[in-house]
Amino acid sequence: MENVISPNIIKNQESINKDKNAGKKLFIETYGCQMNVADSELVVSIMMDNGFSTTDEINNADLIFINTCSIRDNAEQRIRGRLQVFKKLKRTKPELLIGVIGCMAERLKEKLVEEEHLIDLVIGPDAYRDLPNLIKTAESGQKAINVLLSREETYADINPVRYSSNGVSAFISIMRGCDNMCSYCVVPFTRGRERSRDPQSILAEAKQLVVDGFKEVTLLGQNVDKYNWEDKKAGSTFSFASLLEEVARINPDLRVRFSTSYPQDMTDEVLNTMAKYKNICKHIHLPAQSGSTRILEKMKRGYSRQWYDSRIKSIKKILPECAISSDIITGFCTETEEDHKETLSLLTEAGYDMVFMFKYSERPNTYAEKKFEDDVPEDVKSSRLTEIINLQSKISVEVNKKDIGKTFEVLVEGVSKKSKDELYGRSSQNKVIIFPRKDYKKGDYVNIKVTKVTSATLIGESI
Ligand code: 5AD
Ligand code: SF4
Repeated sequence: MENVISPNIIKNQESINKDKNAGKKLFIETYGCQMNVADSELVVSIMMDNGFSTTDEINNADLIFINTCSIRDNAEQRIRGRLQVFKKLKRTKPELLIGVIGCMAERLKEKLVEEEHLIDLVIGPDAYRDLPNLIKTAESGQKAINVLLSREETYADINPVRYSSNGVSAFISIMRGCDNMCSYCVVPFTRGRERSRDPQSILAEAKQLVVDGFKEVTLLGQNVDKYNWEDKKAGSTFSFASLLEEVARINPDLRVRFSTSYPQDMTDEVLNTMAKYKNICKHIHLPAQSGSTRILEKMKRGYSRQWYDSRIKSIKKILPECAISSDIITGFCTETEEDHKETLSLLTEAGYDMVFMFKYSERPNTYAEKKFEDDVPEDVKSSRLTEIINLQSKISVEVNKKDIGKTFEVLVEGVSKKSKDELYGRSSQNKVIIFPRKDYKKGDYVNIKVTKVTSATLIGESI
């Protein structure tokens, strides 16, 4: 029976680790998407269970983690720059451990420690449970690497520690990975296969957040519309629309958001569920990526411009008050002036509230990198990007102007950066609204009448 370890021995080992690490400080820095923010909260939870506490002061750290993003080359370059700073620190404090975690760790694997000698740990997004072992290995002076991806890991039983939260709004990860395989995208390689988390654990997490005083949750997944929990015993499945409804029913004062939706998979059932519950926020992030059907095909997005237009129409019909945002990549392989014009026309027709816009960045090992040439010159990418940014900023102002005179329920998130006499919060549509402080405080719902707008913010008065 050599392989059977008694639970007591595991418990004892855990407390030995905890004691050994007591007083040790973790400094963690997070780059990339909301999913990474949620992952850092899991990592902190696991580390605290192992005796560590967190610090905001890098000079006090015994261990530095950098949770990384690989989505575009410039994200990776920024992280490389930060690593230089950490390495400099380690030269003055040799016992300091440096760990690279997340997407870049997964993409580069052991190459990272070969290229950046002072890194001690390299940990992919599905290997965080192994942290206590990896820390021990690193403390013994060896390089600690775990970049195994999993088909099942959802960290369902780990309670995230909201170490940098505003106490009002929290992320809940409902699924991991992505099976879409868009031709430009590194995510399927860094985050692995798509898997959904047990709805019971999601609901329990949301209920606990309400008890802890949170007022808003954002359900996170790379493609939430593919959320699908199979209850093998009951022989039934549970869809995203059902999950959304269950979360909305926990408490009418708890706002529910979600991200990201996928045009091919977003159903009218989800839109109808949104219409049914006031506390499901009226905002959909529905990345188009391009307005040209020819480019969308090359991107392997699985929908045409016409299909995308029809999804926008459905949103506007079922949810007339709903804000829509998008992501656009400009300068994808073979993109012509004609294709670019179709993206401009998409921006105008969709009348987006907000758009994130990027230049195409070729990512190693993706389908596009293997099969197509990155043939749009850098200066053309830049000028097209400027053109779409300028157009969208005009559109955002026009869209926001329509809000002047309207009243929105705002959930207060904090004091405005510009003036301590003003508060800021968000409307259901995810628009930031600034207004005079009076006696309101963080976490309050306040009705605000909009008086002025810019492309990014609304300004108003409480009524
Ligand atoms: N180059 C530029 N932008 C990209 N995105 C994803 N991959 C790339 C890439 N290779 C953008 C997409 C996606 C957002 C998160 O990042 O627009 O929706
Ligand atoms: Fe998030 Fe994608 Fe960046 Fe990974 S590569 S951090 S999944 S945006």
